[in-house]
Amino acid sequence: MRLDKLLADMQIGTRNKVKQLIRQGAVTVDGAVQTAPDLKVDPNRQKICCFGKDLRYTEYVYYMFYKPKGCVTAHRDAMHPTVMDYIDCGRRGLSPVGRLDLDTEGLLLITNDGELSHNLLSPAKHVSKVYEAKISGCVTKEDVEKFAAGLEIGDESKTRPAKLEILPQGGPFDVRVTVTEGRYHQIKRMFAAVGQSVLELKRIRMGSVALDPSLHPGEYRMLSDEEIKALKTQEEAGC
Ligand code: URA
Repeated sequence: MRLDKLLADMQIGTRNKVKQLIRQGAVTVDGAVQTAPDLKVDPNRQKICCFGKDLRYTEYVYYMFYKPKGCVTAHRDAMHPTVMDYIDCGRRGLSPVGRLDLDTEGLLLITNDGELSHNLLSPAKHVSKVYEAKISGCVTKEDVEKFAAGLEIGDESKTRPAKLEILPQGGPFDVRVTVTEGRYHQIKRMFAAVGQSVLELKRIRMGSVALDPSLHPGEYRMLSDEEIKALKTQEEAGC
């Protein structure tokens, strides 16, 4: 692959920025400075360094993205920005893991590892997702019991048991909900089933990975090796 593409894929900078770095002599291949951005390299066989730092090329990349409200979880959209517009990486095959509604914010994983994505979304795996929400009215202990028993939301089967926690008053959100499925508009439809509507919705966790509190809406970072390992060895969750 081209040297500039490799560096851009490794998040060293935009394609233009990495071309500049290469021409300035910041990059070595097997110890020799290379200044041609279109030089063909084999990252599996050659040692590529930028400012002396070894760039370990990996086939798969994993990002945690803080999806802001107002963007759609898709690759293309005629009306709105998409989540992919925020990801400044030329790596092919990147896709969001599942989807969040246009007006939902929070944690969205983005990867080119189709197998991990499939496993996290598989209905058989029951990977937990945790949301915080602002609700139109008062949530009661009866609602907590109804969520725990599973709700009729207009599908063929009831929802799986979900954990509804009422949060202390005064915070930005009223409730925290943990579900182990990913049905269409699930949280909104569960609250509709108990006569409430969701005013704000934020996903704060998916499986073992929690939204990094240092990220702002629209920002993303690579997952750490520990986070990737934990996702890959994800235990089936229950509520
Ligand atoms: N449930 C919803 O209703 N909306 C989302 O975006 C995610 C879960």
